[in-house]
Amino acid sequence: MRDLVCVKDFEEFAYKVLPRNTLDYYRSGAGRQETLDNNRRAFSKYKIRPRCLRDVSTRSVSTTALGAKLLMPVGISPSAMQRMAHPEGECANARAAESMGTIFILSTIATSSIEEVAQAAPKCIKWFQLYIYNDREVTINLVKRAEKAGFKALVLTVDTPMFGLRTADLRNKFKLPPHLKLANFEGENSAAVSLRGRKTGSALNNLGELFDASLQWKDIEWLKTITHLPIVLKGILTSEDAVLAADHGVAGVLVSNHGARQVDGWPASIEALPEIAKAVGHRLEVYMDGGISDGTDVFKALALGARMVFIGRPALWGLACGGEEGTRKILNILKTEFEYALAISGCASLEDVRQCMVVHESYYAK
Ligand code: FNR
Repeated sequence: MRDLVCVKDFEEFAYKVLPRNTLDYYRSGAGRQETLDNNRRAFSKYKIRPRCLRDVSTRSVSTTALGAKLLMPVGISPSAMQRMAHPEGECANARAAESMGTIFILSTIATSSIEEVAQAAPKCIKWFQLYIYNDREVTINLVKRAEKAGFKALVLTVDTPMFGLRTADLRNKFKLPPHLKLANFEGENSAAVSLRGRKTGSALNNLGELFDASLQWKDIEWLKTITHLPIVLKGILTSEDAVLAADHGVAGVLVSNHGARQVDGWPASIEALPEIAKAVGHRLEVYMDGGISDGTDVFKALALGARMVFIGRPALWGLACGGEEGTRKILNILKTEFEYALAISGCASLEDVRQCMVVHESYYAK
């Protein structure tokens, strides 16, 4: 791991060490994967307009999210089944986030339970990602457990009335390896969410059938009645939905296309970000994820209106390469790269990152 110096190095190494079933599940996007490619490529279409002679001798990359102080503006997005990458899975990633002073979002369909993660990383700022199930009792139970375990926000994923079709998982008939379990569903609900015993297709698409596909905006009101935690909606890609989110009183939106895993043909997250930030940036906190693999990506997302960004796959590559230490290194690399981009472009802190410092490439074609 010593020789891995950027996210791409980690990704390439992870490709060598992960079993095929796991690697395909982690790396895949939906359909022909055009959105997956675009999530990264779209960053190249934005250029940084640097400023100079602006005293960057004293620098800071700290920020806040929902009132919590963070040492860097990059957190970890929820990704399912992290113990497929490393035996300590979500616990290791939460500890990595804890040591770097940033947020870890735990997936509902994790292989470590809410309580295990809380115990492993008690000081980490943890948010809990939620799906709403046909059986509302399942949802209520998860929310109560997350509150009790000290999670600070609920991240409701709103782009998943069902899971997208991912060709590789269909081909591999993706299943959770037998030594692992979906740890948040022990007891009465575990059988219902089991990823085993299915004969055809990806077991994930069967699991998705348990999600409530009839969800509407009024259900956000319902969610507010069962929790005192702030709610972040994850998977917003249009200004129209962002305005509705603000109208429904949520605390934040995470601009995301779910790592391009839902519908091929959706925009890259970075392409969707500007219209959303413009529409609601003054009403709630706006975050983004999707395709972040370098500190300059972080700079561009912040200039285009994100308060902070999150990474999905890079934290899985970190985990696969070196457990907690691997993900800490990924976060450290992104932090350092961001610090360099910031200072050399003439900014001493996040407040200096102005919208006019990042433009679409067409600006230079004029
Ligand atoms: C995800 N993502 C996701 N999102 C969510 O809300 N709940 C989940 O359980 C999962 N699970 C999941 C598994 C895997 C393997 C991946 C790659 C992604 C989406 C995730 O939170 C995030 O939006 C994207 O991963 C961000 O894109 P990058 O950083 O992977 O490019």
